[in-house]
Amino acid sequence: MEAHFPKTPFVDKKIHLGVCGSIAAYKALDLLRAFHKAGIRVRVSLTRAAARFVAPLSFQSLGAEKVFREMFTDEWGKDGLMDDPFGHLGPGAEADAFLVAPASATTLARLACGLADEMLAAQALAWPGALLLAPAMNPRMWNNQATRDNCSVLARRGHVIIPPGCGQVACGEEGEGRFPDLRLVYLYSLRALSPQDLAGKKIMLTLGPTREPWDSVRFWSNRSTGLMGASLAVAAWLRGAEVHAICGYRLGGRRCFAYVWERRRWLQGVGPARGRGV
Ligand SMILES: Cc1cc2nc3c(=O)[nH]c(=O)nc-3n(C[C@H](O)[C@H](O)[C@H](O)COP(=O)(O)O)c2cc1C
Repeated sequence: MEAHFPKTPFVDKKIHLGVCGSIAAYKALDLLRAFHKAGIRVRVSLTRAAARFVAPLSFQSLGAEKVFREMFTDEWGKDGLMDDPFGHLGPGAEADAFLVAPASATTLARLACGLADEMLAAQALAWPGALLLAPAMNPRMWNNQATRDNCSVLARRGHVIIPPGCGQVACGEEGEGRFPDLRLVYLYSLRALSPQDLAGKKIMLTLGPTREPWDSVRFWSNRSTGLMGASLAVAAWLRGAEVHAICGYRLGGRRCFAYVWERRRWLQGVGPARGRGV
């Protein structure tokens, strides 16, 4: 049965993953694993600060094809020559998408100003397309006007800022600025790797079970789980559409997205979701 389903369209796509100095840097390892599972090839750039939080070896061990670090000191071969003197230009020529996760306040400022004083910043500057940026920082840093201005500038240039989460951050403070939900970052990345043939289209979907009143206490309903509708909604969104979902009973808002995620085998090309009928 599974042989009838096409292989994932993401196999052999290439994503460049930039990692900044943040407590959330370890989450980039989970992203790398998820990309790897989907057959996506990953190269990684760690800022100097990021390498204080997670070891380059961890990325290498989990399947990163290459881990970039310092612009000048790290890439020297035994003969005293740089292994790849143009590593700072690499991803722009080779990758299909460029994600910075987590993106620190410093790196956002660098990108907004066009600075190229770090390997990651230089690679981002040489990248011709839209960057995917997943900020993570203390709520006061996130709400600082300087950071807001930098994000506005980046968004105006067409870069995609994945909205950060809200809640308690590592230092114990509460507010907006947490690293976004990992599943969201993953799906945004798949979107960046997908053909955008539905861009500019608005799609409205209804999904999940409806309830029709029979009398004041009883209703008619059906066994729909909403999975098919939710999968279609996510698939259309990945292809660039603006999707509005009208969700049936107990299937509202983000649950729809979480629902697809939990049954995401289809995203990895191993076949349809199993489980209860749709
Ligand atoms: C324990 C610790 C946690 C930090 N977490 C963050 C963070 O989540 N977000 C952020 O923007 N900066 C954070 N910083 C500060 C950055 O590491 C610092 O600004 C660094 O210069 C960022 O450089 P980069 O953008 O080159 O990685 C943290 C610093 C420390 C010591």
